Amino acid sequence: SAAEKGGHDYFMLKEIAEQPQAVADTLLGRLTPRGQLRLDEMRLSDDELREIDKIIIIACGSAFYAGLTAKYAIEHWTRIPCEVELSSEFRYRDPILNRSTLVIAISQSGETMDTLMALRHAREQRARVLAICNTNGSTIPRESDAVLYTHAGPEVGVAATKTFLTQVVACYLIGLYLAQVRESKFGDEVAAEVDQLDRMPQAVEQALGTMEQIRSLARELATAKSVLFIGRHVGYPVALEGALKLKELAYMHAEAFAAGELKHGPIALIEEDLPVVVVVPPRGRDVLHDKIVSNVQEIRARGARTIVLAEEGDESVTPYADVLISLPKVPTLLQPLVATVPLQIFACELAMARGNDVDQPRNLAKSVTVE
Ligand code: AGP
Repeated sequence: SAAEKGGHDYFMLKEIAEQPQAVADTLLGRLTPRGQLRLDEMRLSDDELREIDKIIIIACGSAFYAGLTAKYAIEHWTRIPCEVELSSEFRYRDPILNRSTLVIAISQSGETMDTLMALRHAREQRARVLAICNTNGSTIPRESDAVLYTHAGPEVGVAATKTFLTQVVACYLIGLYLAQVRESKFGDEVAAEVDQLDRMPQAVEQALGTMEQIRSLARELATAKSVLFIGRHVGYPVALEGALKLKELAYMHAEAFAAGELKHGPIALIEEDLPVVVVVPPRGRDVLHDKIVSNVQEIRARGARTIVLAEEGDESVTPYADVLISLPKVPTLLQPLVATVPLQIFACELAMARGNDVDQPRNLAKSVTVE
């Protein structure tokens, strides 16, 4: 009923709107005023965490993209090598695991069979397994050594929205906690990031302000055949997530590329009027930022329609953007939390414009309990 959907037409719209609260709930009780983290529920002791010399994140779908995002942050803050792998590939390639490997299994439902089988394999090899999950008492956390719940609340729409954002937040909490426990040389930066994380609910709220602009854009593009997404650094997983949302909901061909890879092949796809969504990193990262701006320029010169997500006040892209979507000003590593929001809205609105049921897309189930 409409009441269950909080007055929205679809659960997905409700869940998109709930993201500021969901992020706040994931942070709740885990940050201290002194810029420190408290993860009391972590059943791994600080001594155990100091022994970790390798991290492997396993997940599927959107959870895998949350993991890809986390790799940038975790390696930067902790200096522990971090791999990210699709659960369905992981156990069939004979991965190298031992007691000092931390395997992080990310799963909203906690019942995804591919991830469950991968985590069983990891435990058989004596790795320590930490679950990031949204469903209390589900199988994946029950079979793990420790769990950090995302507390996003129930997600009914098949497409992950608030659970994706909160998975990224949970991974960041783990990364920052590891850095804290191991006294990383980035101590000051870690405290600053904790402080910034605390401000993310407001930033996500601000990102929801792009709703009307995206809605009209989605209507204009409803008959497009294909949409490309490009990003770089943490903007790359954002692009992948944006493309997945569009496939799932709008049943359109959508593909994401790392911006630096364009020239190695995909640029041949660029043609007149093709919509290309570009995630531009904050200007703080000068080199990355300028490289992406020149990508936008190249794409535009070939007649594509550029839809550019950039930090508010960033005027460097204005001349090459057919549509400019302003993102709140946040540090680079946190940008996925705001940049994903307009892409969720984009996919949802485009799917609705095409007459699809966004809560129950064809051929998909909310949790995939077969391998
Ligand atoms: C996301 O929109 C998808 N519905 C799907 O990719 C999902 O993220 C994936 O199946 C993993 O599910 P899980 O988080 O419950 O393990």
